[in-house]
Amino acid sequence: METNKLSEVPLVNTILLSADKEGISKAAKVIAAGGLVAFPTETVYGLGGNALEADASQRIYAAKGRPSDNPLIVHIASTDSVYELASNVPEKAKMLMEAFWPGPLTIILPKADIVPDETTGGLKTVAIRMPSHPAALSLIQESGVYIAAPSANLSGKPSPTTAQHVADDLTGRIDVILDGGPVGIGIESTIVDLTEDIPTILRPGFITKKMLENIVGTVNIDKAIIHPDPNLRPKAPGMKYTHYAPKGSLSIIEDKDKPSEVTENVINKINSLLDEYHMKEDSQHSKKKVVVLTTADNAKSYNTDNLILLGEDDSGKTVCSKLYAALRECDKLNADYILSESFNRDELGGAIMNRLLKAAGQHVIYV
Ligand code: TXA
Ligand code: MG
Repeated sequence: METNKLSEVPLVNTILLSADKEGISKAAKVIAAGGLVAFPTETVYGLGGNALEADASQRIYAAKGRPSDNPLIVHIASTDSVYELASNVPEKAKMLMEAFWPGPLTIILPKADIVPDETTGGLKTVAIRMPSHPAALSLIQESGVYIAAPSANLSGKPSPTTAQHVADDLTGRIDVILDGGPVGIGIESTIVDLTEDIPTILRPGFITKKMLENIVGTVNIDKAIIHPDPNLRPKAPGMKYTHYAPKGSLSIIEDKDKPSEVTENVINKINSLLDEYHMKEDSQHSKKKVVVLTTADNAKSYNTDNLILLGEDDSGKTVCSKLYAALRECDKLNADYILSESFNRDELGGAIMNRLLKAAGQHVIYV
């Protein structure tokens, strides 16, 4: 596999601009001139460059330290653009575009010749999305180009949900960061493959299977993402990497009889693990730092102050918007061990558990 080493990127002066009219206009010029701009979308911050210029895509891979076989999503501001980027647009794609764009849905279609192989990681298909964030739409319109944009994090880190997360990862490696404040959704778009008759979800997200099925009937989910198995190869190349992993060891504690509930058994197990891990010392005889990921509802049940709250209760929307910031916070706190409650897996919960399980390297402690 080809990789870009972090040291290969020449240092650039990264400018921070606010995502207002003036900032967007400056940033659009940078993109049009072949530069790289991180910008807010409704899902996570993206790292954008001209999608039809192979050089810009290569700079994106290098800045992120991302393997160049992991394709980029092309962001557009008008549905007409799909017909330029894709060689075939089936009826079901049109229905989904109509229902969910602009918004957190990415569609995979056979690519047109104008899309360079560098942008699609060598694949003959292209990923396309029309974001709903006003700053993202203005940036695409004003730059006059389609914008290839992966999430604006260093490869392997959680996707950024604030401009500060982007700055922490990419300062000195990209030209501009457009600060539009914290994003709304907090996890990446749902990806749906429309190159076969039955649409297939390659990455779960805010647009759920049920929402898609309401529009186009039966929708499948890529087996490799439901049952992570080294023998199954996910169809979205990015889903094979252990993303989002904090430096400390993360475990999810789950009641096998009631997986969607934080039961007494789960709380007792987390408390006993807290005791066990706190007893451990490293070679410098310093105590281990253990952090618990929970919601405000359960916070008082744990025998520790090292808590990171993922919202008031386990409602999917708040957990979603706080998850990545929480994983980054674990690193800031130098957590050696992270113990997380598990969340219900229906609808949006499925997307949240997909990200949390990846961050944990699929490590679940059942009680
Ligand atoms: O919400 C989002 O989708 C954000 C914002 C910035 O739009 N972008 C994002 O991009 O999450 P990225 O690069 O971090 O994730 C793109 C995913 C990767 O897993 C990649 O492998 C997959 O999309 N992908 C891209 N093109 C593909 C294609 N032609 N076929 C299958 N998977 C594709
Ligand atoms: Mg990403």
